[in-house]
Amino acid sequence: MAKLGGTAEGNFRPSKEGFFISGGVFNLLEKLKELEEETRRSIKNAKSLEDLKEVKVRALGKKGSLTAFLRSLGSVSPEERPVIGKQANILREELEQAFKLREQHLRDMQKEGQWEKERIDVTLPGRPVQLGQKHPLTMILEEIKEIFIGLGFQVAHGPDIESDYYNFEALNIPAEHPARDMQDSYYITEQYLLRTHTSPVQIRTMEQLAPKLPVRIIAPGKVFRRDDDATHSPMFHQVEGLAVDTDISFSDLKGTLLLFVREMFGSEQKIRLRPSFFPFTEPSAEVDISCIMCDGKGCRVCSDTGWLEILGAGMVHPRVLEGSGYNPREVTGFAFGMGVERIAMLKYGIGDLRLFFSNDLRFLKQFG
Ligand code: DAH
Repeated sequence: MAKLGGTAEGNFRPSKEGFFISGGVFNLLEKLKELEEETRRSIKNAKSLEDLKEVKVRALGKKGSLTAFLRSLGSVSPEERPVIGKQANILREELEQAFKLREQHLRDMQKEGQWEKERIDVTLPGRPVQLGQKHPLTMILEEIKEIFIGLGFQVAHGPDIESDYYNFEALNIPAEHPARDMQDSYYITEQYLLRTHTSPVQIRTMEQLAPKLPVRIIAPGKVFRRDDDATHSPMFHQVEGLAVDTDISFSDLKGTLLLFVREMFGSEQKIRLRPSFFPFTEPSAEVDISCIMCDGKGCRVCSDTGWLEILGAGMVHPRVLEGSGYNPREVTGFAFGMGVERIAMLKYGIGDLRLFFSNDLRFLKQFG
């Protein structure tokens, strides 16, 4: 009767009759060892807390293999019982310990798994932020400012809504003067309008500074006229320039503008001054640069003249000086006014001024 109630897998599911002893203590110890190995293997293989619980029930539960083994000791001889019993109890404790350790291990793994799931990889590059860039007019304006600041000019500002006095009167353009027709205006009231040029900043600056010398300012800003076509926009930008001192001459104006043009368009550029008329300067000139498209040879852009007009300028009219607090017998000055869009169009080869204001990213992105 070498039968110990076990299954084919070596489990110690006892037969109804319990364990039968044939080989005495040795055999039982052998069985106990098998039971231990089997259980330890199962503990080791348990991949989850649920698995482990099942293994525990199978070994130590009420109907578990070790429990059954212990119960079956009733049929063992009284001499052998304590020896086997003791071993079995030791094993029970050891297995309990092994279960605990495995359980702890599985819990740790579970936690780690959780952490792994919740892990944030801070080393991943962030989603790229859409960076804006400067508007081409801003870039040109900054360039203009830099050049004149380098020459000792300061930047001044005036209001967009200007009084008739500053926009016209003080600039020697009285009411009914035909020169007003050159600048179709947006009037807000009888007295106030959207400034048609940056020249009023000349007056505001001199009023503030007089009789201090020298005056050397540029005044960038928006201006408004009732114009709208490929080369005119109802709002555009100008930069005004003004220098007043005791011995300013026309050659200072010419030298300053030549330097500006060469910084802006290249050191080979030439300028040409044509006599012109502005009520607030005397003499007045229209200033051209040699055509940047054809180098002055003549092309479509310059209408075959070889020249491109870029600004108006002149010596400050004595009446303007006088009206702003300076004595025209003691001081002289030059002034100029340029269109920022025009300079940008020439510099970047842009054919339609409205592109600056249409907010088309395909256009704007080319200047990044
Ligand atoms: N204000 C003039 C315009 O908008 C431009 C101008 C011409 C400004 C001559 C000046 C100047 O300071 O001297 O048409």
